[in-house]
Amino acid sequence: MLIQTKNLTKHYYLGETVVEAVRNVSLEIEKGEYIAITGPSGSGKSTLMHLLGCLDTPTQGKYFFNGIDVTTLNDIELSKLRNKSFGFVFQTFNLLPRLSVEKNVELPLIYAKVSEKIRKEKTLKMLNRVGLMHRKDHRPNELSGGEMQRVAIARALINNPEVILADEPTGNLDSKTSKEIMNLFDEISKDGNTIILVTHDPNVAQHAKRQIRMLDGEIILDTKMELL
Ligand SMILES: Nc1ncnc2c1ncn2[C@@H]1O[C@H](COP(=O)(O)OP(=O)(O)OP(=O)(O)O)[C@@H](O)[C@H]1O
Ligand SMILES: [Mg+2]
Repeated sequence: MLIQTKNLTKHYYLGETVVEAVRNVSLEIEKGEYIAITGPSGSGKSTLMHLLGCLDTPTQGKYFFNGIDVTTLNDIELSKLRNKSFGFVFQTFNLLPRLSVEKNVELPLIYAKVSEKIRKEKTLKMLNRVGLMHRKDHRPNELSGGEMQRVAIARALINNPEVILADEPTGNLDSKTSKEIMNLFDEISKDGNTIILVTHDPNVAQHAKRQIRMLDGEIILDTKMELL
């Protein structure tokens, strides 16, 4: 079991009021799963994703990642686990505007203290993988939305993380570009990667093999596509 949560709960305190963003989520995820989390705005999708990606800590409940009780880790251990095990893709791409495409993708390898030669090799291989070799010297503002998201996906994959977490990865893309990006996620999934993506869009969600639906912080539906 890669991920196991038990009654995972996240409260936000706003003055006197408590917002129960995620409530009693008990979830089991195996390595290699391809999951879409859907649900209306404010239902807790991003909060759950942040908890799973160790970007945030729960108010109550347990989270085991590869059997490790994440809730007992200190900040340094958490950030180590986050950098090693999770690749993040966001709606707004979050690329560094002053760096070339190549440098944006290479950055996590610099943080991981990989040697320059290996960095170069891995980065070019990854750019080739997402079809962006011809854009390697461009800056992000010289790219289309779909190209920017492919850079972000390449950056998320470069450290070979155990899980790719994507929050509305097609939220800023037109429908044709969304399809291209989802085809890329499909290929990444076929390569054996574990993918958890959050989306409003049923057309995007149907790419995944398992659909989790949230409402008011709770999971109200969890369905796996039948294997034919
Ligand atoms: N930092 C915060 N402080 C206080 N409340 C928050 C915070 N972040 C989220 N919330 C609240 O928690 C609830 C869940 O928010 P979350 O962002 O997880 O929803 P979501 O399903 O991702 O919505 P969307 O589809 O609009 O992105 C909402 O009621 C939101 O207002
Ligand atoms: Mg959200």
